[in-house]
Amino acid sequence: MIMLVKSDVQQVKQRYGIIGNNPALNRAIDVALQVAPTDLSVLITGESGVGKETFPQIIHQHSPRKHGKYIAVNCGAIPEGTIDSELFGHEKGSFTGALTDRKGYFEEADGGTVFLDEAGELPIPTQARLLRVLETGEFIKVGASKVLKTNVRIVAATNVNLSQAVTEGKFREDLYYRLNMVPIQMPPLRERTDDIVLLFRKFASDCADKYRMPAIRLDDEAKQLLTAYRWPGNVRELKNVTERISIIEESRDITANILRQYLPDLQVEKYPVLVKRDEQKLFNSEREILYQVLFDMRNDVNELKKLVHEIMDGNLPVQVADTAYPNAHPIHSTIQEVEPEEEDETLSLEDVEREMICKALEKHGGKRKNAAADLKISERTLYRKIKEYNLE
Ligand SMILES: Nc1ncnc2c1ncn2[C@@H]1O[C@H](COP(=O)(O)OP(=O)(O)O)[C@@H](O)[C@H]1O
Ligand SMILES: [Mg+2]
Repeated sequence: MIMLVKSDVQQVKQRYGIIGNNPALNRAIDVALQVAPTDLSVLITGESGVGKETFPQIIHQHSPRKHGKYIAVNCGAIPEGTIDSELFGHEKGSFTGALTDRKGYFEEADGGTVFLDEAGELPIPTQARLLRVLETGEFIKVGASKVLKTNVRIVAATNVNLSQAVTEGKFREDLYYRLNMVPIQMPPLRERTDDIVLLFRKFASDCADKYRMPAIRLDDEAKQLLTAYRWPGNVRELKNVTERISIIEESRDITANILRQYLPDLQVEKYPVLVKRDEQKLFNSEREILYQVLFDMRNDVNELKKLVHEIMDGNLPVQVADTAYPNAHPIHSTIQEVEPEEEDETLSLEDVEREMICKALEKHGGKRKNAAADLKISERTLYRKIKEYNLE
């Protein structure tokens, strides 16, 4: 069967730099184009890194609102205490620090489109305000009593299962239906295996242009490995891996052995059963694999500890180079403030998490925004964790 891809879908791909021929991807773009001229709310779902962010732009720019404002809001990054004021504005004096009146995004974007990214993170009280503005166009600024009107089209995105969030009481059911008038589902990269090598080529060539060097190429075995990998971080992860290899490796011909070093062990090779198609075997031996993983992690941790001790005893030099900046000089440093731990090695995820959060906060001088970015979690999640672990 020949797949006919509409020419306007192809045009959109070109205009927005979207790579891939996967039918589900084409379908998603087609739906976006069909729904764009209407005022219907669109909900884009898909794992993190699948490429959700261009869709609200496609929709806005193909709608009659294209000359109006387009405002993208990351609902997960705004602290719970200020999100209502950011979205709906506030009146002077409505809370400490509210020195002037402020317009919210819904007022700013009157006649345009608001993209609510990570909509699953919206606090319940904000969900109520949002439902009202969606249904009636009415909203009230924080600390005000006058009802204002606005005309905004909403596109939302989420990587959490919102219908499950509804079941768990974390998301209002009425709002869910109101946002999900037109669903667009983006499949994870591992379900678009034919596109993986295409995307790799595109990122390799972008990187080559950017740093003025020849693009890296994969041999056949490396291509197979790239395609078999699970890509839990989806296209974003593929892009990062491609850029890292381009910058770090001197050779432009990438073999499976080189590539393997850039893919986290857990997903390939060491535990090949995880990527084998033999599902039965997968379930039977899942427990064994987990034990193996834990065992290996323990060994790795012990080796790391040994290394740290050797360094602290002055037996080994430390070299830290920031691989993100290939031209930067390596920084030589000594580790001073590591406390040797002799007692039981903890492998509790909570302890490790707590530790990482402390480190990130220290590194960024207590700046939560930067620490959260470093930890690749939302600021809100970081706030929650700080409370949870009593790190104040
Ligand atoms: N089909 C694609 N073609 C080219 N680049 C893509 C594609 N899908 C995603 N990307 C890139 O991958 C990265 C992650 O995409 P993004 O839209 O931010 O993901 P998310 O679904 O988490 O919002 C971005 O740099 C984006 O440009
Ligand atoms: Mg995103």
